[in-house]
Amino acid sequence: MDTDARQPLVVDTGNPEKFEKIPRHIAIIMDGNGRWAQKRGLDRAEGHRAGVQALKPIVKESAKLGVQVLTVYAFSTENWSRPQIEVNALWDLLVEYLRIETPELKSEGVRIQTIGNVDALPSRAQKAIDGAKEDTREQTRMVLNLALNYGGRDELVRAVNRWLDECRPVSRARYVTASAIAEHLDTAGLPDPDLLIRSSGELRISNFLLWQLAYAEIYVTNTLWPDFNPMELRKAIRAYQQRDRRFGGLRE
Ligand code: FPP
Repeated sequence: MDTDARQPLVVDTGNPEKFEKIPRHIAIIMDGNGRWAQKRGLDRAEGHRAGVQALKPIVKESAKLGVQVLTVYAFSTENWSRPQIEVNALWDLLVEYLRIETPELKSEGVRIQTIGNVDALPSRAQKAIDGAKEDTREQTRMVLNLALNYGGRDELVRAVNRWLDECRPVSRARYVTASAIAEHLDTAGLPDPDLLIRSSGELRISNFLLWQLAYAEIYVTNTLWPDFNPMELRKAIRAYQQRDRRFGGLRE
């Protein structure tokens, strides 16, 4: 038992600016479902099912702590290359998750949004997403942002093409700017992540939020995603609170 993880989320570093600093936006790469299942002699789909169970308390804890945006990587543009049976199981789990959890998320003030190209998802998944977004669109406590058929490179290409579409006819074309790109990303209007958490020990970004993670603090734990729990989340936030964020500048 990590008793330290039970401490309140207050780190007094002597610098008042760092007192009780909760990240506004946390992004999570929920990795390790397959290994978790394999270790137990189960199907990979069972690992994903356990992954969904792990996500539920993390969403609640994040809202409770005052996190404003929680973005979770649920399906990447590269995940289509997995066996069809695993891909289908993931969509079934998404539909089930949204059906069961949306009313409770709504009652807790959570708004469901997505990033990624959801037009390419099976229609049952699209329907569930549309319904969950519609049901929760007035909630303001926290955004639960599901990355579905998401890839950072794909998002950047789509953003630039959206911007180019607005520039047409070509005579109105101009040079693209950083703010023009940011305003055409799927995450437009959301703050950039302050903290990226990756479970299962891999030291990669895996095509996640390539633009938005520019100055995120990275926290990697060896814990496999189905074993990740609110105590681990607090541990990650405490590590974040002790980081010295300089955004390319100098320490004061
Ligand atoms: C990576 O683990 C995880 C995924 C590709 C999917 C993550 C999905 C969930 C946690 C459940 C779905 C979420 C919702 C919102 C319904 P992996 O399979 O690559 O693990 P491995 O590296 O151990 O094989």
